[in-house]
Amino acid sequence: MSVLSLTAARVNNRLNLREEGDSLRERQQAKVRVGSHTSVLLKEVLAQLQIKDGEQVVDATAGQGGHSVAILESTHNTKVLALDADPVAVEIARTCLAQFGERAEVVESNFGELEKVLHHKGLKTIDKALFDLGWNSGQLGDGRGFSFLVDEPLNMSYGTKSASGFTAAQALNEWDEETLANVFYGYGEERFSRRIAKAIVERREVQPIQTTLELVEIIRDSTPSLYHRGRLHFATRTFQALRMAVNDELGMIQKGVTAAWEHVAVGGRVAVISFHSVEDRAVKRLFADFVKQGGRLVVKKPLVAERAEITENPRSRSAKLRVIEKTK
Ligand SMILES: C[S@@+](CC[C@H](N)C(=O)[O-])C[C@H]1O[C@@H](n2cnc3c(N)ncnc32)[C@H](O)[C@@H]1O
Repeated sequence: MSVLSLTAARVNNRLNLREEGDSLRERQQAKVRVGSHTSVLLKEVLAQLQIKDGEQVVDATAGQGGHSVAILESTHNTKVLALDADPVAVEIARTCLAQFGERAEVVESNFGELEKVLHHKGLKTIDKALFDLGWNSGQLGDGRGFSFLVDEPLNMSYGTKSASGFTAAQALNEWDEETLANVFYGYGEERFSRRIAKAIVERREVQPIQTTLELVEIIRDSTPSLYHRGRLHFATRTFQALRMAVNDELGMIQKGVTAAWEHVAVGGRVAVISFHSVEDRAVKRLFADFVKQGGRLVVKKPLVAERAEITENPRSRSAKLRVIEKTK
């Protein structure tokens, strides 16, 4: 069985995970400047993680280093081990964190490999961990195909190599119609999933689908015109679904957050910021399991951004912060 069909099967198994998803366009309304990603829920993350001097923190999604900088500035000798799958983000984060010397280290790695990274660094226990899921603003329109507003190759991987082993173009050109429809519905809750999948299969019989704007055109042509005038861009859900499949996002959340939980010391905390309900539901389920193993939900309902933050940074509108503490 090929990587592609294996992943298609795994994707199909997750079809009960639906989302209210409305993230891509909102995220794109955020300022898009390299080096200027605006960290979301910063105040809330600091308040909930309650970082103390001397603690070892893992920032599983370094991005442009915003949360890590705030964590390091909040204490005198806390250490941060930051990860990002994207080598460009790693370079930016390293530059931002250089001022903290040996207190900060940035590693290019998928957080699905957190267990291995911790082992390699000799870190048996950590005190706090943060996952700020999804993409950073600098990654939109930088050639990887996340944006439906810029014509780019349909890659959609965070890292140099995607966690799933395939690109969005490969999925679009090789998956059967039913799998495509299931992915669009399961990961994007795209109500026109079947029409879009059918149109993709028809189009690729003429020529392979290679770029973001080709896909946008197919989605536009296969959906009703009323759909094009909605609050969400009509391509949002399809793009989100593809990105989640390419990066095996739910699989990586499961592996990465579980590794963080297993290594966090008693009294330690794990915080996760999600941006749509497929992600949030996965985190909620994981945390429910951790509660059975001796975890305490620090906040019963996920924290969301205040109005002022949403005005300043529209991307924060869909952010949800969940936090769990290890009690035994
Ligand atoms: C929302 S941004 C983080 C922003 C960061 N907290 C800040 O304040 O600048 C998410 C980052 O996580 C990275 N990322 C997404 N999935 C990942 C994964 N499975 N492993 C490692 N990095 C990942 C993306 O490349 C992106 O840079």
